[in-house]
Amino acid sequence: MSHSILIVDDSKLVSDNLTKYLKDSSFDVIQAFNKSEAKELLKNKDFDFCLLDLNLPDGNGEELLPIFDKNENTKVIIFTFEKDNKKRKKLFSHSCVIDYIIKERNFDDLSFSIVELIKKVSTNNQFNILIVDDSPTTLIILNILLQKRGFNIYEATNGVDALNIIQNQKVDSVIADLEMPQMSGDKLLTNIKKIPAHISTPIMILSGTSKAEMISYVIKNGASDFIKKPFVPEEFILKVDKMMEDLKQKKLIKHQQELLQSKLDKEIQKNWEYNKMLIHQSKMAEMGEMISYIAHQWRQPLNALGLVLQKQKLFFSMGTLNENKLNESVAKGLNLVSQMSNTIEDFRNFFKDDKHVQDILISEVMHKALVIIEPTLEANNISVNINIKKDTQLSIIANELAQVILNILSNAMDALLLNNIKKPKIDISINQLNNVALISIEDNAGGIDADIVEHIFEPYFTTKHEHKGTGLGLYMSKTIVNDHINGDVLVSNTDNGAIFTIIIPLM
Ligand SMILES: Nc1ncnc2c1ncn2[C@@H]1O[C@H](COP(=O)(O)OP(=O)(O)O)[C@@H](O)[C@H]1O
Ligand SMILES: [Mg+2]
Repeated sequence: MSHSILIVDDSKLVSDNLTKYLKDSSFDVIQAFNKSEAKELLKNKDFDFCLLDLNLPDGNGEELLPIFDKNENTKVIIFTFEKDNKKRKKLFSHSCVIDYIIKERNFDDLSFSIVELIKKVSTNNQFNILIVDDSPTTLIILNILLQKRGFNIYEATNGVDALNIIQNQKVDSVIADLEMPQMSGDKLLTNIKKIPAHISTPIMILSGTSKAEMISYVIKNGASDFIKKPFVPEEFILKVDKMMEDLKQKKLIKHQQELLQSKLDKEIQKNWEYNKMLIHQSKMAEMGEMISYIAHQWRQPLNALGLVLQKQKLFFSMGTLNENKLNESVAKGLNLVSQMSNTIEDFRNFFKDDKHVQDILISEVMHKALVIIEPTLEANNISVNINIKKDTQLSIIANELAQVILNILSNAMDALLLNNIKKPKIDISINQLNNVALISIEDNAGGIDADIVEHIFEPYFTTKHEHKGTGLGLYMSKTIVNDHINGDVLVSNTDNGAIFTIIIPLM
């Protein structure tokens, strides 16, 4: 809801200018150019603020103050050329007057500071200030001054009550007397700072003391400010303003940090979902490859099974089919069928989401991968040599590493076939040096171009667009080795082709 402001000033220039400024900050503004006009307006309406000029053509603006004092809702900012200090003090004694501004500054600055003041005061109601003093008179004075400034107030006459309020209410700031029976202000200060939620709550200490060591003592113990009694109301208000302004800034920063954190969390979530999608896509791609591997492995037993069946038909048409021959063929057929079913079982084991860590030799992991791809390599006349220099027992999720090896082998096969290599071969070596196990896979397919080699581990990077490459194989491989084995996958070119090395650090 926008605040309503009454401007009482006989200078049309000043009034119009202020009106424009205030309207730009979306306040509702009504202008009165003399005392009687203002009185008339005040009969029918309550304003949140009044900017009051003192020298009006039909009398002194000061005479309006009792009306505002009575209705208690309007905060008055005095606005004049007068500089008399005594007058100023007298004006402040009206409960409605919240500030006193002298009209001598550059007009823009003046309007700016008035708008800022109104904005500040009108947002101060978000703050609850606890005032603690054993003198009821001081409490009343503080209460009036702070309420004028728009703050919400809690009161306590001793430290114990004060702590109770702090524990049970939302308290943003504390203003406490130093000399109090039961619990002194500095004790109260240390007790408040012990409450985790109030470590950075601003606390102002009031005291009649001018002992330098006491002042530095409370400041050292976390007080934000110190005010000597008796205090000048204007100075007190300015210091409270400053303290609360700091608090607002801190809250703003905290809010922005939280905003940033939540943005970050969202990004992390998005990233996680992106990775989940990559994993899904690469699974789909693997399944496609798996079907082609199965096709290779089944081709031979399927052909053999076909032959067995054709033979039965032949024997029957020649009249030579007897029980013996039939039994023999059935046994042969069943054997082939179980061979094919074993293949399916191997594939099922290989691709199943087995997440348990097991102790396994690197050569055994290599075997798991080769069982899947070797028949396809053979069918393409690609020879495979394995050289086990030093085998190592690892504690890993075996299928994951086997998957990485399979990805590298299948890339080598792709490169060998795409480049029509005459004597295609893949050399595998398994070794252990110092504290690392090494698996290297080398082909003679010509290697990887220097200008793409730095991209091959990026997701979706592929040169096999015509062959439905996904560009996910090496990305997933590197992710698995980095994240689950703490190792790395490196690549370089040899004279004849590419060599991929999986590095596994041993604890
Ligand atoms: N052994 C290799 N020889 C030549 N190029 C290779 C080899 N291995 C990988 N690459 C290159 O790396 C790219 C990315 O491989 P990968 O992530 O497995 O995706 P994809 O196989 O789907 O293209 C390949 O497209 C290819 O250009
Ligand atoms: Mg690949």
